Amino acid sequence: MTTIIDRPKPTDRPPLGQLLQESPYQAYVYSYPHKTSYRPIAPPVSLGQLWSGENREALFLYIHIPFCEMRCGFCNLFTTVSGDREFFREYAIAVGRQAQRVKLALGEASFARFALGGGTPTLLPLEQLEAILDLAEGTMGARLADIPGSVEVSPETVDRQKLKLLRDRGIDRVSIGVQSFIDAEVLAVQRRQQASQVEAALTLMRGANFPTINIDLMYGLPGQTIESWLYSIRQALRFQPEEIYLYPLYVRPLTGMGKSRREWDDIRLACYREGRSLLLGEGYTQVSMRMFRASHALAANGPVYCCQADGMVGLGCGARSYTESWHYSSNYAVDNKKIRHILESFIKTPDESFDFANYGFQLDGEERRRRYVLLSLLSEKGLNLVAYRQRFATDAFADLPELSELMPLGLADWDGDILRLTATGLERSDVIGFWLFSERSRQLMDYYDLK
Ligand SMILES: C[S@@+](CC[C@H](N)C(=O)[O-])C[C@H]1O[C@@H](n2cnc3c(N)ncnc32)[C@H](O)[C@@H]1O
Ligand code: SF4
Repeated sequence: MTTIIDRPKPTDRPPLGQLLQESPYQAYVYSYPHKTSYRPIAPPVSLGQLWSGENREALFLYIHIPFCEMRCGFCNLFTTVSGDREFFREYAIAVGRQAQRVKLALGEASFARFALGGGTPTLLPLEQLEAILDLAEGTMGARLADIPGSVEVSPETVDRQKLKLLRDRGIDRVSIGVQSFIDAEVLAVQRRQQASQVEAALTLMRGANFPTINIDLMYGLPGQTIESWLYSIRQALRFQPEEIYLYPLYVRPLTGMGKSRREWDDIRLACYREGRSLLLGEGYTQVSMRMFRASHALAANGPVYCCQADGMVGLGCGARSYTESWHYSSNYAVDNKKIRHILESFIKTPDESFDFANYGFQLDGEERRRRYVLLSLLSEKGLNLVAYRQRFATDAFADLPELSELMPLGLADWDGDILRLTATGLERSDVIGFWLFSERSRQLMDYYDLK
């Protein structure tokens, strides 16, 4: 039998009222369960077994490129600074070998979405970028021209040739990390980037005809004021991005900022409110606490993909994969030496070892229901109680009775079918999400040894 090592005893869920007294920034829930609740899987499970009972008609293909030009002081993503072309080449070869094995294990499968993330995928030289797109199409069979596809870029790595390659191969969304249009603010978080470079990159991106451009901005940066924050948003608006993400700064352990003892003034809630009303006034709609979509943005074409229900196939070191009952990935670290070590072993992985998941989280019925509730509730669509009943044959309020605490606190409205966060609820998404974590998942996160 397969067991997850290190499963501590559950503790009580903190009352929502109590959590609301604390910081609005408790956990960014972009997926559930959180990767710090993953543990070694002993014995490892074969991917063939893991994917055999799954619906593989509308999968998400994600490829992780764990390289950056710089290590930003706030960043805890799985990425390392490198400019070593040989290392990039070896990495692309290893991802190619992994893709072959994963495709064999998957068998018949169709992809409805594609994303190339990191790190900074556009740091790769053109030929490796091309090799990665080739394996997405050739080995994995993703029809990039027919499905929505996205890539993450940083300003310094944007160039005309790479953009042309990506667009020609069917990528329709480019997401650029800008964080701030004020040089001193980005410099303070060890990010070398000048506003002039950002403008040049955005101009190139616009010229390359991507239907969707996303700009990431951050609030709560050292030295930032509400005025300077609004200035950055206005600068971003000059490029009429189809999407804007407003990220509150999280200072995380083991990052450059986390290691320093400085304390930052917390103006995040005020920045959120001002930023949100600026964007709503400009005709953007709010999709989630962080995401805003312009009225001129086109709806994504292509096959239907449902993030609550459909699976994800992750390739590359640090990528996560999701089936109904297992979430798995490679081992994970924030500390640079450990990241390097994990990357070096990924490159040397024998082909047959790619056939197994050996680090992850097994989702039982409760976890699957929680995941569905969490991902639905934290987005504009809200939790559709009818769809939930169709999927699980149970009632969401019976499964998660704590949901009824949201309405009296003014955090959600319920129209009989849909439970949707109010404006107050949306700005407390990072509290509500954390509060909805299962006890098992919270315990595992608490006991996770940061590395
Ligand atoms: C993969 S990066 C974007 C692409 C590219 N690597 C870059 O930085 O330009 C994802 C985004 O997450 C956000 N982010 C990362 N770490 C964060 C943190 N500690 N707090 C808030 N936002 C963070 C940043 O806005 C960043 O642009
Ligand atoms: S924010 Fe982007 S560029 Fe900076 S270290 Fe993280 S992934 Fe790399």
